[in-house]
Amino acid sequence: MDYIKAANINDFKNNRIISVTILGRKVGIIKGPDAGFYAIEVGCKHQGADITRGHISGNVATCPRHGWKFDLVTGECLNQNASRLKKYDLKIEGDVILISSKPLPEEEEDDPLLHFFD
Ligand code: FES
Repeated sequence: MDYIKAANINDFKNNRIISVTILGRKVGIIKGPDAGFYAIEVGCKHQGADITRGHISGNVATCPRHGWKFDLVTGECLNQNASRLKKYDLKIEGDVILISSKPLPEEEEDDPLLHFFD
């Protein structure tokens, strides 16, 4: 998997979330409550606005354009029938935060029907 330099740990002294554009995609790098970092798509599934520029309460970001809400941990859209935000792999080398050049494969939903024949 290829990784791209996306941010520096020092960028988070006064920020919990920063957004960067990687290969044309808006990606948020988020400092979690345990001081770990994770990366997730932040281009709104409606019309592409950067959801980190809207209101953020806990893990929920509200898009500044039309109010769609997304869980920044799971990627789930909370008030519309929209696909999830994609997650990116992230690693830290020294003070540098690198993220995967492509999103991670979608996680399968825990659909009980998938286990029907188990
Ligand atoms: S662009 Fe995000 S809700 Fe419309």
